[in-house]
Amino acid sequence: VAVANTVRALPARFDPRRVAAEPDPYPVYQRMRAEGPLLRAGPAQWVVTRHAEASMALTDSRLGGALPEPYHRLSTGDGPAGEFSQRILLYQDQPVHGRLRRLLGTPFGNAGVQQLQPKISTLADDLLHAGQERGALDLAADLAVPLPLTVMCHVLGVPDPVRDAALPWLLALGRTLVTHASPAEQRAADDATTWLRDCMSGLLSLRRRQPADDLLTQVSGVGGLVAEFGDEEIVDNLLFLLFAGFETTSSLIANGAAALLANPGELARMRAEPSLLATAVEEFLRYDAPIQSRVRMVRSTIVIGERTLRPGRIVLVLLGSANRDERVFTDPDRLDVARSPNPHVSFGGGRHFCLGATLARLEAALVFGRLIARFDRIEPAAPAVRSVTSTLRTYSSVPALLRSAVGSHRDGGAS
Ligand code: HEM
Repeated sequence: VAVANTVRALPARFDPRRVAAEPDPYPVYQRMRAEGPLLRAGPAQWVVTRHAEASMALTDSRLGGALPEPYHRLSTGDGPAGEFSQRILLYQDQPVHGRLRRLLGTPFGNAGVQQLQPKISTLADDLLHAGQERGALDLAADLAVPLPLTVMCHVLGVPDPVRDAALPWLLALGRTLVTHASPAEQRAADDATTWLRDCMSGLLSLRRRQPADDLLTQVSGVGGLVAEFGDEEIVDNLLFLLFAGFETTSSLIANGAAALLANPGELARMRAEPSLLATAVEEFLRYDAPIQSRVRMVRSTIVIGERTLRPGRIVLVLLGSANRDERVFTDPDRLDVARSPNPHVSFGGGRHFCLGATLARLEAALVFGRLIARFDRIEPAAPAVRSVTSTLRTYSSVPALLRSAVGSHRDGGAS
């Protein structure tokens, strides 16, 4: 039983910097929740384990997204990647944060996302077509990766050849957002930042000469939209958008696919009741959250779990643990595609709530809707292969055997 104001330490062998990198962090999270809602992770560092406290920590403005400079240096170093991470909106407080969200947000509102539906459907069909031809598909590498990357590049206005060249660099840059990157990861992220910045600046200049219907044109200053930011801020935030919208959504699709293959009964339920698509997507997000933790810094004194935290304290909010909190979710370790309500925190919360949540939900609904409508048999072809960093949880491979449903070509799925 947790005693008020007793400092509870993390379980032995549990390194909060490598949270999601545990092959199966969920039993560890369970023990941590039992210890208490707030555990000490180190000097001036705390970990939030339970749903009520996590929701509060994500939304309360006494905690902010801006982190002290040494904290950035620890994860991204003090080269280009370090500079990049200090500029992106994820780590800004007001008023800069609000201005950046307004600058970048238009395509990701409801109206903008609905316009993308035909493009996403065609893309999903084209990728699944390869599975139909071969009777097998890697649902991670050949579906979950290319689909969100192509969608994000389409929204921004990044041409296909640039997209393909950018992929390895984007993956390297994504590694910088881990809580503590290794020196090798930092060097790779520096090189990636340099390459990607050149590339994005070139595209920004191009759009100034040749405007198009895309986000690059909107933020390029054509039409006088952007007086308040310099090109450096704009370029770095566009790069952030590109991988924020890519790896996370890839992970949602890969994790969802792996969860369904491991739970054929739930797959059968979705097939029998296509209206479960929306709750199923929420359940994939809850069951195995792509982003396992978010960091906040205390801006003014706050009480969490009966402990008073002073300004400057770092708080790691374990989204993956909050999503399995037995105080909120019945039978939390079970995948239940009909679960409702499902107040998971996989998109974070408060002012920093994920800008792309509507888009991510639509992409996942379209992909799973079409996958299930198109194939009447979907089974594992080999064990799925996990890929984890300290914050992103996904699979590098989810091999599946597929058998086409008779007569289904471009006709199935969510709309
Ligand atoms: C399943 C897919 C996704 C997941 C799980 C996810 C998760 C998250 C999380 C946990 C945060 C931090 C929230 C917080 O600190 O409270 C976030 C922020 C963000 N996400 Fe997503 N995301 C996904 C897809 C996308 C997409 C498609 C986009 C494309 C626009 C996107 C853009 C962003 C941006 C720009 C932020 C920073 C928001 C801010 O600081 O104000 N994300 N996302």
